[in-house]
Amino acid sequence: MNITWDAEKYTKEFSFVHQYGNGVLELIDREKAKTAIDLGCGNGALSRKLKDMGLDVIGIDSSPEQLGIARKDYPDIPFIEADATSFSVDDPVDIIFSNAVFHWIDKDRQPDMLKHVSEALTPGGQFVFEMGGYGNNRLIHRELRKAFERHGYSYRMPFYFPSIGEYSAMIESAGMLVTYAFLFDRPTELRGDDGLGSWIRMFIRTPFIVVNDADKEAAIISEAVENLRPDLYHDGRWYSDYVRLRIKAVKP
Ligand code: BEZ
Repeated sequence: MNITWDAEKYTKEFSFVHQYGNGVLELIDREKAKTAIDLGCGNGALSRKLKDMGLDVIGIDSSPEQLGIARKDYPDIPFIEADATSFSVDDPVDIIFSNAVFHWIDKDRQPDMLKHVSEALTPGGQFVFEMGGYGNNRLIHRELRKAFERHGYSYRMPFYFPSIGEYSAMIESAGMLVTYAFLFDRPTELRGDDGLGSWIRMFIRTPFIVVNDADKEAAIISEAVENLRPDLYHDGRWYSDYVRLRIKAVKP
């Protein structure tokens, strides 16, 4: 998905994305592993963590804006601009890690991405990641769809949130073996009085292309936010109804 990121705002206001990535890092078996790729590294914050774990890491991302921040903040880490569905590396690596990226890739492009992951791993290499899983942001997308339809537009769901069964089958078709899979709810605080509106404006972009009118876009967002208040606003705080899919697979 080609999105121009406001990478400064993303890094400042949505740092929880990489903070939650710490739990995923714990799935990595450090023994014998020396090299790693952070696939969809964004601002590089988790590439830094991989490096601090003693791994020789390369960050890969398709966003020049995000890579600009990553290169400035972590000049000792190589960052490469490439698409997750077509990347390749000169030497296979022991670990491919990814956090909060794969749901941005359309379902029909996932097999290509997984094929490139498998090809970039050494035998015994580990594929460890987290993404939005089945049911992720169900309430948010439901209210956005309703608001779009009230205004005469149709809402195209821009993300892929698979179940454990569906995604494990794809991973295994790409030549890796799933050894761990967990699908779990993780309501996540969205900071600030406009936390949910701000999250929608940052992350839900492509459905609004059909609207193409700033006032209508603002009305759709504010109606959806107000309708979500009973479910997602508690004790003065907004929450996102995140569901995470966390998986570890190995290349035999
Ligand atoms: C997620 O991490 O689940 C996510 C973030 C932004 C948009 C959609 C999903």
